[in-house]
Amino acid sequence: MKLIIGVTGASGSRYALRLLEALKDKGIGRVLIMSKNGKAIAKHELGEEGVRRMRELSSEEYPNDLACPYISGSSKFDGMVVVPCSMKTLSEISIGYSSSAISRIADVALKEGRPLVLVPRETPLSSIHLENMLRASRAGAIILPAMPAFYMGPKGIDDLVDFVVGRILDVLGIENDLYRRWVGWAT
Ligand SMILES: Cc1cc2nc3c(=O)[nH]c(=O)nc-3n(C[C@H](O)[C@H](O)[C@H](O)COP(=O)(O)O)c2cc1C
Repeated sequence: MKLIIGVTGASGSRYALRLLEALKDKGIGRVLIMSKNGKAIAKHELGEEGVRRMRELSSEEYPNDLACPYISGSSKFDGMVVVPCSMKTLSEISIGYSSSAISRIADVALKEGRPLVLVPRETPLSSIHLENMLRASRAGAIILPAMPAFYMGPKGIDDLVDFVVGRILDVLGIENDLYRRWVGWAT
């Protein structure tokens, strides 16, 4: 299995870092593509060391342009996660405006019927953002906002990140125990 991981310029690069770690643990291929803004914000949030770690954790890395070999429907990959997904990249994906490798591969995933998970992070949301999410969802994308739950009793930020990453793996059908699942009210 090989997944494309697109990292764009929304806050939350640590979700991408953790996803790359979890996929590596499972032996799943990880193609990393970072937008220019995604790289800048990851550097701000995780430091140079964090960005280096993301690169080390990927099995392949390409720039966010047409030099990336996965921009064609004939290329082999099993799905894509855009995490975090900026409102700008969401808007491109929602209207099929494929100006970058990330938005083009998302377009390919939708047209080929391969899983596409978008992890938007913005608040509050305008009606433009909401309509873009609805359009992408109707086209087949899974909209999985970076919205951690609190019912699993998180002890810190890592637990909140693991909840979101665990839910990404869940929707892709990848077994994981990254977070404590709800099993009913505690007795
Ligand atoms: C520090 C910082 C944080 C940002 N956080 C967000 C965010 O959480 N969500 C979002 O949609 N845009 C956010 N932006 C704005 C995007 O980075 C901007 O729209 C950019 O053009 C996105 O480009 P990209 O999608 O090609 O990466 C942020 C910008 C900065 C500088």
